Formats: sequence, C-alpha cells, structure tokens
Amino acid sequence: MTQNNTPPHDPGSTDTIRSGKKIMPATLANYHLACKYLLQGKLVSFPTETVYGLGADATNDTAVAGIFEAKQRPSFNPLIIHLPSLAAAEEYVEFDMISRKLAAAFWPGPFTLVLKKKPNCRLSPLVSAGLDTVAVRVPQHPIAQELLQYFKYPIAAPSANISGKLSPTRPEHVARDLSSQVAMILDGAACQDGLESTIVQVVGSGIRLLRPGTVTAQEIERLTGLGVAQFEDGQNPTAPGQLKSHYAPNAKIRLNANDIFPGEALLAFGSLYPKDAKIIRNLSPKGILREAAANLFSMLHDLDETGCKTIAVSPIPNKGLGLAINDRLNRAATPSDE
Ligand code: TXA
Ligand code: MG
Repeated sequence: MTQNNTPPHDPGSTDTIRSGKKIMPATLANYHLACKYLLQGKLVSFPTETVYGLGADATNDTAVAGIFEAKQRPSFNPLIIHLPSLAAAEEYVEFDMISRKLAAAFWPGPFTLVLKKKPNCRLSPLVSAGLDTVAVRVPQHPIAQELLQYFKYPIAAPSANISGKLSPTRPEHVARDLSSQVAMILDGAACQDGLESTIVQVVGSGIRLLRPGTVTAQEIERLTGLGVAQFEDGQNPTAPGQLKSHYAPNAKIRLNANDIFPGEALLAFGSLYPKDAKIIRNLSPKGILREAAANLFSMLHDLDETGCKTIAVSPIPNKGLGLAINDRLNRAATPSDE
C-alpha cells in the first residue's frame, strides 16, 4: 500500500474552506494552472487594482460566451480585454497619437482605452459585441500582471459578479456569486480602488469619457491639453444599455423564421429548420445556447457578406444565454434611429 502523506483533513481550517470555494493563493504553480484552465476555455477570476475580473481567453469564442452565461447578462455588452503592456496591446489594436500618449501615462493602471481592432487580430467578435473597436486595459495589480505575462493571449474580463449585483472587491465576493462557474479564483485579498476603471475613447481630436473612474477628466485634460466630453448615463453611445452603435448587418433580419423565402439566407438553430435554404449557417446544430452565442457575430458577418437581402433566423429559446442572443437579434432587426 502506498503511504498517504497528505496532512489530516481539517474541515474547519480557513485554507480548506477557501480552497473549497476555489480561492487559491497566487503561487507559480497556480499561475500555471490558471493558464491551463484559460487555454481549456474555462473561467478564472483574478484581482485587479479596481475590482476582481471574471477572465476568459479573449480569442476563444466559447470561453467568452461562458462569461455572459456565468454573469447571466441579458445582453451582450462589449467587454474589456486585459494585456500586460502597451507593447503587447499593439498586436491587437491601432493606437492614434493621443491614445498612445494616454496609454504611456496611465498604464499600467485603472484606465481603459477604446481602440480600433487590427484586422485579423484573432479576438473573438463576441468580446466587442461585433463592434470594430475593443476596450483595452493594462492593469497594475501584481497578480493580474503576472497572470497576463504567463498567459499568451489577452484575457477578456468584466467584473466578476452576477449582472446587477455589486462589483466584487474581495475573493469571497466572487466565490459567493460564481464559485460553481469559475475554475479558480486567484487570491489577492481586497482590491485597492474598489471602483471600475476609467474608460476613454479618442474620436478625431476629441476625447470622450465613457465611464468615470480613478483617473479623472482633469488629469486627462492636463496631459493632452484637450477637452474631455463627459457622457452622462443615457447619452453614452457605446455604454451598456445604450448600445446604439451596435453591430448592424446590411441585410434585413427576419426573426422566428420557420420557412424560407427566395433570396433569403438562413441563420439556423438546432436540427429543425427549412432545409431548402440556399445559404445556411447553423448557430448550433445540437441546440446548445453557449455554442450559438459563440458563433453569433461571426455567422451574422458571414451571411451579411454574401450580399443577401434578408437573413431569416430560426426561433431561439428565450432563456439563459438565449435572452442575450435574442436581444442582439432584435436590435439588428430594428433599424436604429441614428
Ligand atoms: O475596472 C475594470 O474596468 C474592470 C476590471 C475587471 O478590469 N472591468 C470592467 O469590465 O469593469 P465591464 O465589462 O464590467 O465593463 C466594460 C465596459 C462597459 O461599460 C462597456 O460598455 C465598455 O466597457 N466597453 C467595452 N468595449 C467597448 C467598446 N468597444 N466601445 C465602447 N465601450 C466599450
Ligand atoms: Mg461591471
């Protein structure tokens, strides 16, 4: 018989309780484990100086869909991608001169820039909800930094809470909401800021403050010599809930289609769909909502690029991730007022 060297089980010890909730110390072995989980498409929560993030490999569609599933968000708000440095960010996004200056001054730190994606940058289209821009942040927290340096891709991460609940500033907060959805929570004790990062977008020679945070409009004005236009809730063109500038296909969208008309392309779901359609993409032949969410934006793009007049869409169950999928399809079906 092999000898068992593990210490006696102590159900009362804090460490045992913490590991039961998947709260793990930030050791070299656990960084490697976190990277392994991320590569497998699993979710890993990690501390930043603002709040705990719910991280997924930003190049993996299914992993990113898992974020929306875990947060129970009823819509696909675009997410922030996290990278270890400005140099690492260059691979994925284009920097104008003002954004570069802002990045050089405020990274690493509680500061996020919305930037144009580079063509073929490998980011999942779900990360930016189909937009051609993506929000990028280089956090300062040493645990976030180490994780990002070990992991070879950007990590997409919203705050690690269920939609509508308070943002998590301690690992216990994450465990309370999401311990069954994450593979691991890296333990960084309490976050220093407790307030989400400042989000900024440079538009022409102007600067938009999309979300206020620890880096203030005054600091940004002082650095750049430019005025900062502050967007109040409801005015912000790209913040959650007000996504007017959402991705809209050129083709019309016809929802809940059980048949197909001449000239229509079909976005199918499941195994029951009109087989006579000439152009078909199937979001999930097995009817799995997470797979459908992962494929949504790339398949809409593909069908739109065929030049079809209308995309007919099979009915999609309005539950779980289906809520977010239908929200997005409804927005695409209703021409925006812009
Ligand atoms: O402090 C933070 O920023 C935390 C930590 C984890 O880094 N993350 C965070 O992510 O607050 P989240 O997903 O809760 O907020 C992302 C915000 C949303 O308000 C979203 O609308 C905005 O970023 N956003 C993302 N991509 C955008 C884009 N392409 N254009 C405009 N806004 C965008
Ligand atoms: Mg949030």
